[in-house]
Amino acid sequence: MSSITTPPATVILTGDRPTGPLHLGHFVGSLRNRVAYQQQYQQFVMLADAQALTDNMEDTGKVHRNVIEVALDYLAVGIDPTKTTIFIQSQVPELTELTFYYLNLVTVARLERNPTVKEEIRLRGFERDIPAGFLTYPASQAADISAFKATLVPVGEDQIPMIEQTNEIVRRFNRLVQRDILVETKALVPEIGRLPGIDGKAKMSKSLGNTINLGDSADQIRAAVKQVYTDPLHLLVADPGHLEGNVAFLYLDAFDTDKVALEEMKAHYVRGGLGDSVVKKRLDTVLQEMLAPIRARREEFAQDKGQVLQMLKEGTINARAVAAATVDEVRRALGLSYF
Ligand code: TRP
Repeated sequence: MSSITTPPATVILTGDRPTGPLHLGHFVGSLRNRVAYQQQYQQFVMLADAQALTDNMEDTGKVHRNVIEVALDYLAVGIDPTKTTIFIQSQVPELTELTFYYLNLVTVARLERNPTVKEEIRLRGFERDIPAGFLTYPASQAADISAFKATLVPVGEDQIPMIEQTNEIVRRFNRLVQRDILVETKALVPEIGRLPGIDGKAKMSKSLGNTINLGDSADQIRAAVKQVYTDPLHLLVADPGHLEGNVAFLYLDAFDTDKVALEEMKAHYVRGGLGDSVVKKRLDTVLQEMLAPIRARREEFAQDKGQVLQMLKEGTINARAVAAATVDEVRRALGLSYF
């Protein structure tokens, strides 16, 4: 007789460091998908304010302010708190406790080898003065993921080393206590690559100042579209244009739903005779249409921040209950239960 085991249900956990408003890059890379996943799966979305402090200790006000701003972005795009548990990391102290145990399951050398951490240390210019909390944040991220027994973690490619390190910790823990208490997880990397910035740099990012934010006004969008990098060799309307690296077309690929018209426009551009201003006009129309309802919803929610905080409070209470159950198992397995 074969034993029947029910496959584990899919549990999704993702998070964002609340250090600034969310932009089109987030929308393409994660927010749209979250709206879809919440229909099918149990989903937790975490405002990683404690992780944000690992490199923002001198600007805690920024992190505090952005918790509510990012929550507004979530609600505006349609992440629905009745379907998705949205919560604030720092208000789930069980995550800190788990992190403290996990730090004994990882070596300093292994943390130093984590490619994401390595790159971030370089970008931040920490050199030898690395905050210990920053170096060890992969253990904290392992706690975030494993506390919820998340089986899927939708993240950008740059976060894959975090998932690998999480699974190393999970395996070490389970082996140590000789029970499968923690669950291994999988990174879910979106097929659609990352969105370049309006300046054509590989990444849309707040720190590069090349974003279009979800809450931007119609004027801000218009001004940004004017600056969008196209083809520097396309000097005259009659000249043939190039699509490679042409941000206007990359954005249209991502957002224009009229694919037939878009393909015609591309062919015309490549042939010559189509000016950048026409392409940008189309891009402006597409982005304005897409972002107007998001902005309107955002403004509506922003009128009642008390209600948003209440939603976050309820989400956090629910998240905390789940994390507490895991921490209870972990403590018992480690012999840390006495009363
Ligand atoms: N490190 C992620 C980022 O930079 C945020 C994050 C914190 C996260 N904890 C997580 C993402 C757990 C996925 C799962 O955006």
